[in-house]
Amino acid sequence: MSEHRDTLEDLNKHAPLREKIISAHKSLRKTFPFIDRISIAIYDPDTKILKTYLHSSDNKNPLPNYQTSIDNAPSLKQLLEKGLPRVINNLLTFEDGQREHTRRIGRSGYAASYTLPMFNNGEFFGFIFFNSYEKDVFTEKALQQIDIYGHIISLTVINELSSISTLAAAVKTTGSITHARDPETGSHLDRMSRYSRLIASSLADKYNLDDDYIEHIFMFSPLHDIGKIAIPDHILLKPGKLDDHETAIMKTHAHKGYKMINEILDNFGLKNIQYIDVLRNIVKSHHETINGNGYPSGIKDGDIPLEARIIAVADIFDALTSSRPYKKAWSNDEAIQTLKQMAGDTLDEDCVNALIDNIEKIKHIQKLFKQNYN
Ligand code: C2E
Ligand code: SIN
Ligand code: SIN
Ligand code: FE
Ligand code: FE
Repeated sequence: MSEHRDTLEDLNKHAPLREKIISAHKSLRKTFPFIDRISIAIYDPDTKILKTYLHSSDNKNPLPNYQTSIDNAPSLKQLLEKGLPRVINNLLTFEDGQREHTRRIGRSGYAASYTLPMFNNGEFFGFIFFNSYEKDVFTEKALQQIDIYGHIISLTVINELSSISTLAAAVKTTGSITHARDPETGSHLDRMSRYSRLIASSLADKYNLDDDYIEHIFMFSPLHDIGKIAIPDHILLKPGKLDDHETAIMKTHAHKGYKMINEILDNFGLKNIQYIDVLRNIVKSHHETINGNGYPSGIKDGDIPLEARIIAVADIFDALTSSRPYKKAWSNDEAIQTLKQMAGDTLDEDCVNALIDNIEKIKHIQKLFKQNYN
């Protein structure tokens, strides 16, 4: 009897998605050494934005933090509409392409690519790109095997993404939260999660942030206030200013949320989701302030995790520009003035600048997700 080692055994383990993709790439390279890079882009159907999410390159990533509207990538749009993969066996003919990603791919020396759209129950959710430095490598025979890997990778990605939606569903069910009770409407969460992603993307170069970190900030940010489930209605929904006692109770939402997240992760066996500490930090620390006067812990400056500093700016900007049971909506200009005053004292200055330097994108997000009055 001979022993065979399962070349994909790493997929059985509890490991971050990125490590699994790297393992799949290694295994694939044993048969097809010419595959130099696998990358994954995720599609957001609400904004029609396609965003690089993960890549397996051993060396530099030619396309960090790349994002585009699907309407600006006509050939990719065609792929998803037809549901068919695309083989380009000589990318060098694309080298002087007009579009950003073609130019970047060309510059980094890739000669051939294979692009596979990913679908879950018929619903498009992204692309897998296989890139090679050699041309004419994606032959029909090779593609038959590469396709199998592509589908395994696609299932691995959807598994991770659906753990996150299980988590979101679990959160909604816990304490039977309903929008009727929640003063933070769905559109607040739609906007603040996109402001958070906007801030993180703008800081990516300076702070050396990975695409998958940024994408997880986007996915986790709507859960920042889950602790409000535990706050009684007469405080949460009070149509006026809170008194000191009520404020103290209200402030417990950050720590209560943190405890709830830990319980949910335990109960649903979700502790191995990648970047789960990013979620914990967002829920626990989104009301900490740079000067150390925030809550629940009073930590300051760089001791506050970056994701919490980002969420704080996104949350406050949207709270100011929205109406609440206790206040009217402010204009963008008024809110920006206030953020500027808070920068460096309570809010992180880089995060504030990253948001307010992008007023056109802010307005676009506001247009897509108008406040729904309930
Ligand atoms: P929220 O409505 O999501 O507000 C998030 C944060 O945005 C607030 O954190 C605060 O930093 C900022 N913010 C919101 N509205 C205003 C405003 O009118 N002026 C200024 N300067 N900042 C504002 P904070 O203060 O820790 O409050 C946490 C949560 O407590 C709020 O979440 C809200 O649910 C509740 N809350 C705060 N103040 C009141 C109030 O006067 N009445 C009621 N009913 N709820 C309040
Ligand atoms: C990528 O490889 O990350 C996306 C670029 C492309 O091949 O279109
Ligand atoms: C496409 O991939 O959509 C066409 C080529 C490009 O956008 O660079
Ligand atoms: Fe909060
Ligand atoms: Fe909020």
